[in-house]
Amino acid sequence: TSKTNSNRAYLAIDQGTTSSRAIVFTAEFEMAYTAQQEFAQYYPRNGWVEQDPEELWQSVLAVTREALAAARQQGLQVTHIGIVNQRETTLVWHRDSGKPVYNAIVWQDRRTSQYCRSLSAHEDMVQQKTGLRLDPYFSASKLRWILDNVDGANALAQNEKLLFGTVDSWLIWRLTGGEVHATDVTNASRTSLYNIGENCWDNALLALFGIPPAMLPEVKDCAADFGMTAPDILPESLPISGVAGDQQAAMIGQGCVQPGNVKATYGTGCFALVNTGADCPVSQSGLLTTIAYRLHGQTHYAIEGAIFVAGAAVQWLRDGLGLIAKAADSEAIASQVGNEHGLVVVPAFTGLGAPHWQPDARGAIYGITRATSADDIVRATLESVCFQTHDLLTAMSQSGVTPTGLKVDGGMVANEWFCQFLADTLNVPVVRPHIMETTALGAALLAAMQAGDIAGLNDLATATPCQKTFTPTANSDRETQLVRWQKAVQATLLMAQ
Ligand code: G3P
Repeated sequence: TSKTNSNRAYLAIDQGTTSSRAIVFTAEFEMAYTAQQEFAQYYPRNGWVEQDPEELWQSVLAVTREALAAARQQGLQVTHIGIVNQRETTLVWHRDSGKPVYNAIVWQDRRTSQYCRSLSAHEDMVQQKTGLRLDPYFSASKLRWILDNVDGANALAQNEKLLFGTVDSWLIWRLTGGEVHATDVTNASRTSLYNIGENCWDNALLALFGIPPAMLPEVKDCAADFGMTAPDILPESLPISGVAGDQQAAMIGQGCVQPGNVKATYGTGCFALVNTGADCPVSQSGLLTTIAYRLHGQTHYAIEGAIFVAGAAVQWLRDGLGLIAKAADSEAIASQVGNEHGLVVVPAFTGLGAPHWQPDARGAIYGITRATSADDIVRATLESVCFQTHDLLTAMSQSGVTPTGLKVDGGMVANEWFCQFLADTLNVPVVRPHIMETTALGAALLAAMQAGDIAGLNDLATATPCQKTFTPTANSDRETQLVRWQKAVQATLLMAQ
């Protein structure tokens, strides 16, 4: 941590899929303190993924209080809060009591796949308006499920007694003591209810999914006034001034603010976004169009490739199969195993996202022999994340943007073997930033922008320096590996039919 010129600081709340974090950033955007808490995931049925909204809130509250106390101890004065969050995850709560009516339905949850199929006649309309696919991934079908399946929920919603929100809205509501029901435009753009071209909730989409408009949060710019924290929540009242979906925040934290800049974040899933500036192109090759950020009313768009399982596959190696003791062990194992293992792992645990969009696909391992070892499976699992990224970049090229390099971040990129294999597979340089917590950095930058401490995005380049570039090395097996990968994906898709 470098010396600070001022004692001003920002608090970034990063509410991710498996853990909540609060990170204190100094006025120079160096990390001064990190508090982190994991919370439970619930899998009530095949393909269902839920979180308890109270547990999620308590984890955020605990890390926020811890980080604020640590900042004070270091002589830092937090002046503004930024919130970034797992996107699409859907919550409904009572307007009066703030009590949730059901668990949060997590973005990975596939329970509405049949419902989404039943709407297929409207696929074009949905894509034109939202930039998204008709897929269980997005919030609208999950919200419909809650209204249909929780006793009395539909009637209460019609009577304006219930509120809907993604995780950012839920946290803003709780942090402000129920004063503010708001979201930012990037989170809104992931609900499938928001018209990204016209920048408003869309009546035709609300009608399609049967959602009463009174449930919806107010939509704001990413750097805006989202209210003050309530006095009984934190020791001091602080303004919430920046909000964005975590993947969009990572774009900002990576300094990907010029058209053509592309980043991939390897968290639970992998999300590759390329900035398209003021253009809002509709992808014909299985990618999404989404809002990258809106600042001072100016909307910037991105094309996004979403893979549902990346770091989650490493977790599976550790917790599901017990093949590694900790995630970091996968690095040494992968570099020791040769590439002759012949395995292809397709980690379609919760279906396949971009560019295939098959919610009913499930994972597979091909090429097992009597000689297959646990280490082979570890290496092939890491490889699969690189092959999936390759598919995303290919789809980006088909959409007219050919990435000449990839900025990477997220937990998995601490793994050097992974970064190098990624560069070799993509055949473009892979660039790792100095601050790997780009998501949280994005939150701090947005908060600082609203505070008036930085003027705009052009100020970002100095806050987001590169730490290491992985240059592609000659890999004579690359083509063969990619062909085998494609065959394995096709076989997996066939099994889902
Ligand atoms: O769209 C889901 C994404 O926002 C989740 O991100 O970092 O929690 O895997 P992460």
